Amino acid sequence: MSLFFRIQFRFYKMRILFIGDIFGNTGRRVLAQRLQSLIKENSIDVCIANGENAAGGRGLTSNIFKKLRKYGVHIVTGGNHSFSIPDNEYSFLDTPTVLRPLNYPPGNIGHGSTVFELGDGRTIGVINLQGRTFVHEALDDPFRIGKSAIDQIKEQTSHILVDFHAEATSEKMAFAQYVDGQVSAVLGTHTHVQTADEKILPGGTAFISDAGMTGPEDSVIGMKKEQVLRRFLLQTHVRFDPADKGPMINGVIIETDDTTAKAVSIKRVFERIIFQ
Ligand SMILES: [Fe+2]
Ligand SMILES: [Fe+2]
Repeated sequence: MSLFFRIQFRFYKMRILFIGDIFGNTGRRVLAQRLQSLIKENSIDVCIANGENAAGGRGLTSNIFKKLRKYGVHIVTGGNHSFSIPDNEYSFLDTPTVLRPLNYPPGNIGHGSTVFELGDGRTIGVINLQGRTFVHEALDDPFRIGKSAIDQIKEQTSHILVDFHAEATSEKMAFAQYVDGQVSAVLGTHTHVQTADEKILPGGTAFISDAGMTGPEDSVIGMKKEQVLRRFLLQTHVRFDPADKGPMINGVIIETDDTTAKAVSIKRVFERIIFQ
């Protein structure tokens, strides 16, 4: 086979690994142990992870971001916990490969989208949005803001992935339908429970309502189950601490066509991990 054909074959598809909300120390240990081998086994070109809970269950810090980079994550997205860090740490949110939802009111530090260049010269745009249904923050409209970001990024690259961080399945699904055919993938995050509805929409956009959580399965969405239960039973304030049992990795692997940027496959990743 000539070099030309080998190069064409190598670049035929982009393989994207997206990791669901990394939760606390357990989620980080999972990635330290498993991410490199997962990347190798699946010939992953780019790894994007939601890190809004990577620091003790709330937010992401500069040091933890550096660790995630070392494990193999290229871009970290956020959510409603992106700003749940001491405000003297906010400046770190200005890092181009760290995103927080784009539709927070203007004036906030940080970026809601980026265009990332892979080692081989290909590019992918990543947009982070937050839904408004059942959330506390009074955010700008993720639909219109998301659409305008897509139109802008399209001028630089046709591969675009959206992390739509939201509580309501309907809002995530509606957004995916709204931009079907215009982006390679719309992936839901925030609920910490992986859904089994992964699909490719008619226009070629890969979709899952929620990619799940990379963290302690033996918990209530990451926190110690006894504490969460106590709050539900007593309806008073109870401090929540990250759980540490039942390590698992959740996410999806998407393949896109290099020429059309449409998704050709989406596969869920759900593995229970035994720490070595
Ligand atoms: Fe989360
Ligand atoms: Fe969240």
